[in-house]
Amino acid sequence: MSDLKKIKDEFLSKLRSKLDLSEVNKIKSDLFSKNGLITNQFKKIGSIPESERKKYATDLNAIKDELQDLITLKLNEIETLEVNEKLQNEKVDVTLPERPIARGKIHPVSQTIDEISSIFSEIGFSVEEGPDVENEYNNFTALNTPEHHPARDMHDTFYLDEKKQKLLRTHTSPVQIRTMLKDKPPFKIIAPGRTYRSDSDQTHSPMFHQVEGLHIDKNINMGDLKGCLNYFIKEFFEVDKIKMRFRPSHFPFTEPSAEVDIGYKIKDGKIIIGEGDQWLEILGCGMVHPNVLKNVKVDPNKFQGYAFGIGIDRLAMLKYGINDLRAFFECDYRWLNHFGFDPLDVPTNYRGLSR
Ligand code: DAH
Repeated sequence: MSDLKKIKDEFLSKLRSKLDLSEVNKIKSDLFSKNGLITNQFKKIGSIPESERKKYATDLNAIKDELQDLITLKLNEIETLEVNEKLQNEKVDVTLPERPIARGKIHPVSQTIDEISSIFSEIGFSVEEGPDVENEYNNFTALNTPEHHPARDMHDTFYLDEKKQKLLRTHTSPVQIRTMLKDKPPFKIIAPGRTYRSDSDQTHSPMFHQVEGLHIDKNINMGDLKGCLNYFIKEFFEVDKIKMRFRPSHFPFTEPSAEVDIGYKIKDGKIIIGEGDQWLEILGCGMVHPNVLKNVKVDPNKFQGYAFGIGIDRLAMLKYGINDLRAFFECDYRWLNHFGFDPLDVPTNYRGLSR
């Protein structure tokens, strides 16, 4: 029997038996390493008489291919086997009940922001963001509140530099400016976020939350504003009817301007929204002032619309019966555990907001 045939028979039978990874690798090296049996046969080609050389080389190549294919096949088989074994051993039974672990809670303010975003997104508002550190222009001047305007004093601003150019935004209204500067009308956005004023007592915190609303298009009027807020308050408080009143007010960036109160009563120590004859102020709003539109290069003869600013913390306190604003920011774990929400219970309009 020729050398080639001997090698072929020997290794084919070896490769047909059950092998593990290291055994296959050993065979591979026995045959194809620098001094492997097949490698050495190739080295011999030159010394084969010319008349036999061609046939020898053809046979050798055929054997080489056959053995190599078989080795590759074996290696694939072993790999598949290993993967299957791993899958089997590392299987997780998802039907097992969860282990009782202490889980974090969602803060009532975060929950309220999620609820607000969900409600407004249902009627076509998208969510915009702006930075906490603002410049004086976006926070005041562009919003039709020039230097020495009395409205500036009411904001108890935290300035960040001597020249009063940088500040912590005192409201979310500068996001109106940012949004209108970067895009073209129409605009239909809300902008929830943190706001800052130098003020602190039971109902005021130096850091608090607002959500800004802005809807600019060709035919927007006060009726649209009223309809939008009416829908929002009903959805937010999850009631069928509400009492709402618009009181004339003044904001430099809107004309006319109004503050909105909702009617409520206290029954058995609980606040009931939509009944009774007591009123609570929850937001400021109005039709966007033409000067604001001019400042962001929107033509007030073509476009108009409304804006509003709602205090988020106040809404959360009302809805969830929390009576001290300061508790929101004290990081008391027991408080959070009591008033917080399940992280898996994401609020949606169709499934219920706060259940
Ligand atoms: N930025 C006002 C504030 O913080 C609230 C506000 C009032 C926002 C009227 C508005 C608006 O967009 O139209 O007191």
